[in-house]
Amino acid sequence: MQTEMLSAQDDAAGVAAALPDAAAAALHARVNALRDALQAEIIGQPALVERLLIALLADGHLLVEGAPGLAKTTAIKALAARIEADFHRVQFTPDLLPADLTGTDVLRPATGAFEFEPGPLFHNLVLADEINRAPAKVQSALLEAMAERQVTIGRRSWPLPRLFLVMATQNPIEQEGTFPLPEAQLDRFLLHVPVGYPQADSERDIMRLARRRAQQELAPHAEAARLLTQSDIFAAREQVLSLHMADGLEDYIVQLVLATRDPRPWAPALREKIAWGASPRASIALERCARASAWLAGRDYVLPEDVQSLAPDVLRHRVLLGYEAEAEGLRVDDVVRQLLERVPLP
Ligand SMILES: Nc1ncnc2c1ncn2[C@@H]1O[C@H](COP(=O)(O)OP(=O)(O)O)[C@@H](O)[C@H]1O
Ligand SMILES: [Mg+2]
Repeated sequence: MQTEMLSAQDDAAGVAAALPDAAAAALHARVNALRDALQAEIIGQPALVERLLIALLADGHLLVEGAPGLAKTTAIKALAARIEADFHRVQFTPDLLPADLTGTDVLRPATGAFEFEPGPLFHNLVLADEINRAPAKVQSALLEAMAERQVTIGRRSWPLPRLFLVMATQNPIEQEGTFPLPEAQLDRFLLHVPVGYPQADSERDIMRLARRRAQQELAPHAEAARLLTQSDIFAAREQVLSLHMADGLEDYIVQLVLATRDPRPWAPALREKIAWGASPRASIALERCARASAWLAGRDYVLPEDVQSLAPDVLRHRVLLGYEAEAEGLRVDDVVRQLLERVPLP
């Protein structure tokens, strides 16, 4: 944390941190190779792959929503197999306890002393599978750790790894025995990504990939090479933070986020539909994601398109609509789309 903040300041002052051009180009090429490898394995879901990389580059967490069988688990495992990171999957169930995530103090008979036994959160990549199947106190323990980057047991705190990315999955179909996520804490997720069914030609490629694997008796990821080290990831994050963003584009982000709180200047009719607008966490997230998107595209400056393409996934879980909107079937996506159409571009 400390070192990241320091390097961000260095960047702002235009000193140090910058890699020589050749090293920067090589790093970018490695991230592109990672993207290609993921696309080859997660077929027909380019947005999911891009969002995974953006979360990695922007140092954030993902909430992924989609029906079972749409490659959510596959995606995070594929990423874990190709970067220098350890991985853990936690299946959320109604009987899960916060300590099952965080770890807890256990008595060591040999010494008679209590010692902290770290839980599954102490990994670089954590898949929190079906997060809405565990009760609120477990969800909160996860969201708190994500925001604080540490686990507190009693009076002691334990820092989580510097590379720490949670991908939580949620099934949109309301099932019996599910617990709604705490709306007020959802903004701990950088992005809320919907995953839909693949198109026909992707579906055929998925089938063929599964058949090839079965024929060759290849375990998933058996052939994977690690393409990025952790220091690559931290170096890329520094570059993302030092890209050029015009003042006008900063203002645009601010206007978009403000418009979720008071849309009257742009879309007066939305005023009555929004119960809660997005917090400053949304502006921070939108800026970071737009930067990461620009970096992935190989630019050293951010464009309005970067902001616009990420705005729906950044805002989807941060704006709360009122009952009137719900009665009309208006969704946050509709609100964000209207705001993107109406808030003037820089
Ligand atoms: N887009 C896809 N690309 C490649 N394989 C896929 C895709 N969608 C589904 N599959 C295959 O379908 C199965 C289910 O995927 P999984 O990741 O377990 O789904 P989820 O976690 O979303 O329930 C896996 O065997 C996976 O390889
Ligand atoms: Mg799964």
